[in-house]
Amino acid sequence: MGVGYSCLVLVSIFVICPWMCLGKYMSSVEKCNVYKGSWVFDNSYPLYNSSACPHIGKEFDCQKYGRPDHQYLKYRWQPSECDLPRFDAQDFLKRFEGKKIMFIGDSVSLNQWQSLTCLLHAAVPTSIKLHTHDFSVSTFLFQDYGVSVKVFHSVYLVDIEEEQIGRVLKLDSLKNGKIWKDNDIVIFNTWLWWYRRGPKQPWDYIQDGEKILKDMDRMVAFQKGLTTWANWVNSEVDTNKTKVFFQGISPSHYHGKDWNEPEVNNCSKETQPVSGSTYPAGLPQAAYVLKDVLKKITKPVHLLDITTLSQLRKDAHPSSYNGFKGMDCTHWCVAGLPDTWNQLLYAALIG
Ligand SMILES: *[C@@H]1O[C@H](CO)[C@@H](O)[C@H](O)[C@H]1NC(C)=O
Ligand SMILES: *[C@@H]1O[C@H](CO)[C@@H](O)[C@H](O)[C@H]1NC(C)=O
Ligand SMILES: *[C@@H]1O[C@H](CO)[C@@H](O)[C@H](O)[C@H]1NC(C)=O
Repeated sequence: MGVGYSCLVLVSIFVICPWMCLGKYMSSVEKCNVYKGSWVFDNSYPLYNSSACPHIGKEFDCQKYGRPDHQYLKYRWQPSECDLPRFDAQDFLKRFEGKKIMFIGDSVSLNQWQSLTCLLHAAVPTSIKLHTHDFSVSTFLFQDYGVSVKVFHSVYLVDIEEEQIGRVLKLDSLKNGKIWKDNDIVIFNTWLWWYRRGPKQPWDYIQDGEKILKDMDRMVAFQKGLTTWANWVNSEVDTNKTKVFFQGISPSHYHGKDWNEPEVNNCSKETQPVSGSTYPAGLPQAAYVLKDVLKKITKPVHLLDITTLSQLRKDAHPSSYNGFKGMDCTHWCVAGLPDTWNQLLYAALIG
């Protein structure tokens, strides 16, 4: 009966799906969804001592700026249906010898970049060299392996241009692609800045097709900018040479009602993750918009689907333990949660 039933399911899938679709179905049953799971305490974590990692930005170095608790360093992500490989820095460097890896996006990309450089540095502390080329690119070179790990600062991926009327955010222009596609592994991200207003908004007008606007629905703008990026991947990136990732929407923790503590309005008192595998508030709308856009890309693009697992980590932000002393429940301590993002990146690369 059981066998007959699965057979029937398989046969109907064969009938309904063309073979491409079957391929997709097969790989999704073979491989478990590593983004579904929960956080477990593991005393063998963290994977490195942050005080030994050079150049951690003052926005991320929580231990240096006096964070008194350590438990947030000791959680490991446990997928419900399989195990993740432990991050093996030596293996990573050997596998990607001579390769160029680039994170492209806002300060959340910087956050993941710093974590990866710390993870790799812990394995080969003598071989690291930092170059800061200009405002947009910084590179850590692991000289013994010729592996470069770069970050390219671009908060929207699409362009902002100075014109006579002022700074124009151009939803259908993406001019840095030539630099980006010259790498072997690229990890994109954009989200944090799409709702910025007032003095922190880095543009005066927004251009949508031929229309120049003072403002527009920001979620629609995000969707359009992201679609420009998706079209660029489809038409310009040789994914046989360059592996493309998108870092999912990274959540912040300023609204305690999201995790059933309605009186809380920041992350300052949080020292433990939300237990279990579901987050009370569910996914933000941006995560759905992102998935819709990614579906339209015909080339292989891997989504690092970090939203839910990061939502559970209300304890992993710097709060006031940073070089600015401001309350930050948006970025993440290094060492900390971004190490898991990189562990997932590693798992996807070797899987
Ligand atoms: C990290 O290194 C610092 C400086 O060497 C040391 O004081 C501290 O105890 C270390 N922390 C851990 C968790 O090993
Ligand atoms: C990528 O590799 C596949 C398989 O080898 C090949 O069919 C395809 O034409 C290649 N694509 C490009 C853009 O080179
Ligand atoms: C953070 O929340 C605490 C209480 O949970 C409150 O006392 C403090 O004023 C808040 N800090 C900021 C900067 O909002």
